Amino acid sequence: MSCSLAPSETCVLVTGGAGFIGSHTTVELLERGYNVVVVDDLSNSSPVAIERIKEIVGADAAQNLTFYEENILDRAALTRIFDTHHPDRVIHFAGFKAVGESVAKPLEYYSNNIGSTLTLCDVMREHDCKSIIFSSSSTVYGDPDNPPVTEEDPKKPATNPYGWTKWMIEQMLMDLHTADPAWNVVLLRYFNPIGAHPSGLIGEDPKGIPNNLVPYVAQVAVGKREAVQVFGNDYPTPDGTGVRDYIHVVDLARGHVSALEWMNGRSEVEIFNLGTGTGSSVLDVIHAFEQACGHELPYKICPRRAGDIAANWCDASKAERMMGWKAQFDIADMCRDSWNWQSKNPDGFATAEA
Ligand code: UFG
Repeated sequence: MSCSLAPSETCVLVTGGAGFIGSHTTVELLERGYNVVVVDDLSNSSPVAIERIKEIVGADAAQNLTFYEENILDRAALTRIFDTHHPDRVIHFAGFKAVGESVAKPLEYYSNNIGSTLTLCDVMREHDCKSIIFSSSSTVYGDPDNPPVTEEDPKKPATNPYGWTKWMIEQMLMDLHTADPAWNVVLLRYFNPIGAHPSGLIGEDPKGIPNNLVPYVAQVAVGKREAVQVFGNDYPTPDGTGVRDYIHVVDLARGHVSALEWMNGRSEVEIFNLGTGTGSSVLDVIHAFEQACGHELPYKICPRRAGDIAANWCDASKAERMMGWKAQFDIADMCRDSWNWQSKNPDGFATAEA
C-alpha cells in the first residue's frame, strides 16, 4: 500500500477533518486532486465546516469528498468505512486538545486520544493500510533549553495529560514500525497554528472562552470580550511576554500534503517540525492584530499562566531540506486572515447554523 500513487488514484482518510487544522488540510488535498474521506464525530466541530470546504474547492473537487459523522473509537463504523473506501493513507487529527481540560479530565483524554488511535491503527492493519501522518505537537519538547528546537532535540516529560497523549502516540507509532517495518509513519510536530483560510469561510471556532491567544485576541477585536489578558510580562524574552512560533494554518495544511507526497513509496518513521522558524511575543501578536483590524486592542498584564514556558520556536529546515516545504505566510498575513474569518463569522460556524 505504500507504492507511489497519483492524487486521483489515492484515497486519504482524514480523521478530525471537520476541525480547525483538519478542514484546512482537506481543502488542500481536494485542491490537489486527492480523494478524501473525512471521519469526524463533530464533538468539537460543525457540519457547516464540511459545506464550507465544498464551497471553497468547487463542485468538481467536492465530488471527491465523502464525510462520515462517526467517532473513530467505533470500530464497527471505522471497519465499514475502510471496507467501502480502502484508504491508501491516513492523516490522523481527531482528538481532544484543551490543555487545561486535560488536567481536569485525564481519563477522558487518555481513553479518547490513545484509545481511538489504537482502534484506528488496528483497523488500518486489518486493511493493509500502513501509512499514517500523525498530528503531533511542539509540546513534546517541553520547556526547551535552547530554542530553536530541532527534531533531534530530546523529548521531555509532558506537563499535562494532553501533552502525554501526543508523546505516547508518537511512541506507539514508532513501536508499530519497529514491529512491522512496512508501516510508514510521519510525525508532524506543529508549533502554534493560527490564521484562517483566506476566503474567510473556515477558521478556528473554539467553544466557550478561548484558551489560546489568537482566538481570544480575535474575540476582543470583534467586541465579544473586553480585553486581552497577557499572561506574564516578566519572562526572559525581549519584551517580557511569552514567545511562540506562530504558523498560518494554510501553511500547516500544505505541510501535510508535502508529507503525503514525500512518504510515497517509503516505509520508515520520520519526524518534521512545522513552524516558521521565527518567534513572536504576545505583544507582537496583539500589535499585528491591531494592524489587521484597524483599531487598538485593550490588554492588561496578568500573572503568568501555570504550566506556560517562556519561549519556544523551531528550526524548520529539515522539512524544507527533505520535503521541499517552507512556510510562506508571516504574522501579518496570519492576523489578516484570522480577522477576516472572525469579522465575517463573529460566532464562528454558529453564525451560519443560526
Ligand atoms: N497567552 C496570553 N493570553 C491568553 C492566551 C495565551 O497571554 O489569553 C499567551 C501564553 O502565555 C503564551 C502565548 O500567549 O505565551 C501562546 O499561548 P497559547 O495558549 O495560544 O499557546 P501555547 O503555546 O500555550 O499552547 C500551544 C498549543 C497547545 C500545545 C502547546 C505546547 O495550543 O496545544 O502550544 O506546544 F500543547
